[in-house]
Amino acid sequence: MSDTFPPGFLWGTATAAYQIEGAARENGRTPSIWDTFSHTPGKVARGDTGDIAVDHFHRRAEDVRLMADLGVNAYRFSVSWPRVQPTGRGPAIQRGLDFYRALVDDLLGHGIEPVLTLYHWDLPQELEAAGGWPERETAYRFAEYARSVGEALGDRVQRWTTLNEPWCSAFLGYASGVHAPGRTDPAAALRAAHHLNLGHGLAGQVLRSVLPADARLSVSLNPSAVRARTQSPADLDARRRIDALANRIFTGPMLNGAYPEDLFADTARITDWSFVHAADLATIRRPLDSLGINYYAPAVVSAATDEFAGRHDGHGESEHSPWPGADSVAFHQPPGELTEMGWSVDPSGLYDLLMRYTREAPGLPLMVTENGAAYADRPGADGTVHDPDRIRYLHGHLAAVRRAIDDGADVRGYFLWSLLDNFEWAYGYGKRFGAVHVDYETQRRTPKSSALWYARLAGTGVLPEVPVG
Ligand code: FCB
Repeated sequence: MSDTFPPGFLWGTATAAYQIEGAARENGRTPSIWDTFSHTPGKVARGDTGDIAVDHFHRRAEDVRLMADLGVNAYRFSVSWPRVQPTGRGPAIQRGLDFYRALVDDLLGHGIEPVLTLYHWDLPQELEAAGGWPERETAYRFAEYARSVGEALGDRVQRWTTLNEPWCSAFLGYASGVHAPGRTDPAAALRAAHHLNLGHGLAGQVLRSVLPADARLSVSLNPSAVRARTQSPADLDARRRIDALANRIFTGPMLNGAYPEDLFADTARITDWSFVHAADLATIRRPLDSLGINYYAPAVVSAATDEFAGRHDGHGESEHSPWPGADSVAFHQPPGELTEMGWSVDPSGLYDLLMRYTREAPGLPLMVTENGAAYADRPGADGTVHDPDRIRYLHGHLAAVRRAIDDGADVRGYFLWSLLDNFEWAYGYGKRFGAVHVDYETQRRTPKSSALWYARLAGTGVLPEVPVG
């Protein structure tokens, strides 16, 4: 196996607006569903909120310098919808857009390619009050917002991503309720999934019309590398069900213009899917320039029996399932090493996904738009932060990417989640994913050894044999 990555490979880090920006009430920004959710007692660990987060809104220039020092050549960030379009409709506000213009200019000034995500989960609260993603209208609002951002930044941003992980928006947000807006209504979650798909399609259409011809469009999914616990027909059927709900519900319409028939059958008792209009599927199936894959850990499933009834799917504690119509499925913790999230360390899941989409979407370049791990990192007495576990995690997963490239996958880039320790949704600041440590009292940034390791890799394009720190 070669240890060298292809020339032009994008070496990036990734973040999301609500997780890092703070400045929640500045410059006309209004609450998003995550502001409301995090301020609702009991929803986020310790009552943490993104009010201040890691103050990136005010430390933008310092954070871009940090990236430049690491020598990465790309940065994936998201635009906060309520910062640029506070009511979720109508004209965008310039002071909101100005922040992103300045960010992009800083990035370009340091030779770092901006990779912009329009929606990383922060729906304006006003749109949730009007029904949120279960309502069709939200998809049209999203396309309008996409137009504003496209018109404002299309002259300087080439790479555009519509949605981040619509599975989480739909099923953690509206079925299990562990994410904002915290609803627990399986039928609403399936409607949300369709309207996210529709929003992706409509936004893509609008972006193609306002962006220069060389703009590149993408979406970042979190496909599940789902495995059956045994090869029994019942366990294989459990895998099929979860594959439909986690993966094919998005890739079906986006890549092939159709929902899978088995998904309709599995969920028939919950909804009749009459909210899917015939013309929607052609709208959703828009040609993409790449497919973004976010990967952390595989899932192992079996048929639920008395022996295996638990639901350990790693997506937070809730008595409500994020998997509508899949009560007959049990999730299992795979054996082996776990990260601080309790997610298993298994790079073969990433390899399998890259090979799967190489087969299923021939000719479509792939991008690993998130991968990384949380560990309980602490500064030592000398102030440095050593995180050998993260280096081993990254090394293993990058070796899997390299192996997939050898085996024919057209992978164009890798984005480490995350640049900085940040607000990890329902877990608040308790889980540190950063390559750069943040002291939340002082906002001091300290690159961990993994950041320095990653910088060497980004600089040379060569994966070291041993994951030395
Ligand atoms: C992904 C999210 C990202 C981050 C990582 C750990 O699901 O897209 O914001 O929280 O998980």
